[in-house]
Amino acid sequence: MFKVIIILMILVHNAHAHSYALATAHPLATQAGVEVLDNGGNAFDAAVAISAALAVVEPYGSGIGGGGFWLLHEAKTNSDVVIDGREVAPLAATKNMYLDEHGKPTRDSVDGPRAAGIPGVVAALDYISEHYGKRPLSANLTAAIRYARDGFIPGEQYQRFIKMRADTLSKSPAAEKIFLQSEQARLIQKDLAHSLQLIATHGQKVFYQGELAIQLVNGVQAAGGIWQLEDLQQYQIKLRTPIRSSYKDLTLILPPPPTSGGVVLTQILAMLEPYDLSQYQSSQMTHIVVEAMRRAYQDRALYLGDPDFTDIPMQKLLNRQYAQTKFKTFDPQHASVSQTLATIEANEGQDTTHFSVIDAEGNYVAATLSINYPFGSGFVAPGTGILLNDEMDDFVIAEGVGNVYGLVGSSANAIEPKKRMLSSMTPLFAYSKDRLLIAGTPGGSRIISMLALALIEFQQGATSEQIVKRERFHHQYIPDVIQFEKNALSEHVQQMLVKKGHTLKEINYRYGNMQVISKHRHKGHLTAASDPRGEGLAIVKP
Ligand code: DON
Repeated sequence: MFKVIIILMILVHNAHAHSYALATAHPLATQAGVEVLDNGGNAFDAAVAISAALAVVEPYGSGIGGGGFWLLHEAKTNSDVVIDGREVAPLAATKNMYLDEHGKPTRDSVDGPRAAGIPGVVAALDYISEHYGKRPLSANLTAAIRYARDGFIPGEQYQRFIKMRADTLSKSPAAEKIFLQSEQARLIQKDLAHSLQLIATHGQKVFYQGELAIQLVNGVQAAGGIWQLEDLQQYQIKLRTPIRSSYKDLTLILPPPPTSGGVVLTQILAMLEPYDLSQYQSSQMTHIVVEAMRRAYQDRALYLGDPDFTDIPMQKLLNRQYAQTKFKTFDPQHASVSQTLATIEANEGQDTTHFSVIDAEGNYVAATLSINYPFGSGFVAPGTGILLNDEMDDFVIAEGVGNVYGLVGSSANAIEPKKRMLSSMTPLFAYSKDRLLIAGTPGGSRIISMLALALIEFQQGATSEQIVKRERFHHQYIPDVIQFEKNALSEHVQQMLVKKGHTLKEINYRYGNMQVISKHRHKGHLTAASDPRGEGLAIVKP
């Protein structure tokens, strides 16, 4: 589906360092970041302001009723950290809570208050402001409060997702009133403005222990959900050490579990490393990349989950030799078959949102935030204006049953109280000799394959704009098909792939919404690009 696109790129080709750059999925969120950076805030303050603004202007994508991963680089200490604000399962959650009496999955993991994990965004924003920002949380929330209070005109993405989720939203009276009944073109979110104002005044405590906590729990329980006050009181963000890996001459800084992104990307790229992909015909290049995706996504399904609950053989999975051994079953002439793909033992050893921002001091942030499916669970706790996520669906609901993105998994990702559901969100940094890349995208299971293609391009010298524009293809082990955007594979390439035994499925819309910044590491100049598939805005300040 093609949409009108707003993309603005200000590229200044001179030797001077630029002051800052931002790329977000919505012009008002970019504007919120600009306000902060122009008023003495750093990239971390901007990240807080952008996260909060996106919660208001992209209510279908992320929000304070959801979670996310913020990858931070602090110039002063030259260090990287992941703020893991992923949701956790409620204390009353059970392994089979989404199966009916016949053992069949219900829609409860996707629609309504039972689908919601305990949100992490507010705790993360409070933490980032306090430990990394120069301004108080309240100052970083002003644009978001203004957007919620005064309203804004929603774009095409919003209209599309409203249609898609109208049935679910209409089951929650508070959601219906906000999103479906408004007669005016502006979307005004008074309750959300009030909730954000409470958070600005009182910090995260009001959300996890105070007035908002009580409203949220009462609202969820009255509608048949299982949240308790203890769930919110016990929620904690986690600081995680990023995965540091490499691909050819690139150094990669990637988020670790409970997102699968860092592990799966590392594996895909390790399998591809021996190949000079630019040497291959496009059909053979696609075949090689698809077979690497297939194998890495297999390990996602087999091994990955919340590292605080399950032992993940990280050393093995991140080991280049292991990946390359796993790739030995690659057949240049034939597609492998996912169902019979051997597992090996080796030496041990459009919803959702992403933004990237860098400041003049050399701090930068890549963050991917989500409430999962468009408009999350569709449930708003009365009086709060807060749309709750349906991230519980990212757990394995039943053995062999795919989630809304078709992803399967193992007991490593089974539901347990307080456990984080496995994610694919992958905010990342990559360094070549000359350039830094700050990138990420929404897209469910396809997040990782999109970024694999982006990194292959970046390694070959592609610009920010080329990276976000690239036509995409995807394989996720199961289902055993190559999904692709129209024009990603020519007729000839498609024929060649079918000849090798691949099953192809053209996706009838364009997917992803990648937000990219690139910096020349020596000259300092910046470029930024927002995916033409979305409505975002990238700005570079001279
Ligand atoms: O955490 C995850 O992997 C998913 N909840 C992300 C969902 C997503 O990207 C939807 N975007 N189209």
